[in-house]
Amino acid sequence: FTLEIDPEDTNKGAYPYYMLKEIDEQAVVARNIAAHYFDEDGNLQGIGCAITDRMQEADRLYIVAAGTSYHAGLVGKRYFEQWAKIPTEVHIASEFAYDQPMLSEKPFFIFLSQSGETADSREVLDNVKKQGYPALTLANVMNSTLTREADFALPVLAGPEIAVASTKAYTAQVLVQAILASALGNPGFDLKAELAKVAVEISAITDEKESFKQIAETALKGQKSAFYIGRGLDAAVALEAALKLKEISYVQTEGFAAGELKHGTISLIEDGTPVFALLTQEKTAGLLRGEVAQVAARGANTIILASESLAKEGDAFVLPEVNELLMPILAVIPAQLIAYYATLDRGLDVDRPRNLAKSVTVQ
Ligand code: G6P
Repeated sequence: FTLEIDPEDTNKGAYPYYMLKEIDEQAVVARNIAAHYFDEDGNLQGIGCAITDRMQEADRLYIVAAGTSYHAGLVGKRYFEQWAKIPTEVHIASEFAYDQPMLSEKPFFIFLSQSGETADSREVLDNVKKQGYPALTLANVMNSTLTREADFALPVLAGPEIAVASTKAYTAQVLVQAILASALGNPGFDLKAELAKVAVEISAITDEKESFKQIAETALKGQKSAFYIGRGLDAAVALEAALKLKEISYVQTEGFAAGELKHGTISLIEDGTPVFALLTQEKTAGLLRGEVAQVAARGANTIILASESLAKEGDAFVLPEVNELLMPILAVIPAQLIAYYATLDRGLDVDRPRNLAKSVTVQ
């Protein structure tokens, strides 16, 4: 028996917090996205040629976003480069707005936003429109300012997200970027079938709540700081994983490209410092194991979350395996749950962390 969740329902239902409900909804969201963007025969639908033609004409894509959406863009970059073969840059909106980098000859802009109202991103959209460049918004809230003011808009379809800490909007943004990139170039595997598998495996992970509660309560109890490390796509996920933990539990957490630790940050490692390692990328798995050993030798409490084929005895959690490029969707979920349980354990309000707003409409 599985509870089908209606991601359009804004009621918390039996859940103590919206964040937990929204974490659980991710499997349904993945299915909804696949149903929206693929027809029954597996052909893409819902992305007009007007969009793909303009993107194909571009010599470079510029993804502009803030917060969690920026982190989703760091993953999406890989799909646009590897499948669509279009060089892609990812930018923080508040930086791009006042220090516009040198642009290519034919840029195409992608605005990623849950709310579609983030002032920093709106400022950039205004600027690039004045310069005459084409722009597409991928937003969760359609009919929002960023969707109305861009040339094109596509829905992210996560349903209403109420907890301040974004969860399902992130995975939905990653999924929709993968689908969009597959409309521009062949991923080399059956994306629709793989997305069905992703949905199943998301549930397999969210069914393991007790494991993450235990990890959170043992590794983070009394800790003031923590690290998430990874390489490649795992480094991108590490940034989002760290943001989740710090923004709601107030444990100061850094997300790090693992190879960079030795160039300074490793001096922060003390006895018991929790270091979470995300290990889903085969090419760099050996190097990452080495980095985990280096921090462990300096007293860190290392917690490894590894995909099945790369897992070793002693790893804290084995992630089910899907195509390696889609592993960010699965790897982020333990981090969401660890953040949730660490925050509960501290007696804090999971859904409404201090000083934060769901949508930031001022610059
Ligand atoms: C706020 C939210 C974040 C979100 C960011 C960007 O800071 O608290 O969760 O990632 O804005 O918002 P957007 O709606 O543009 O994705």
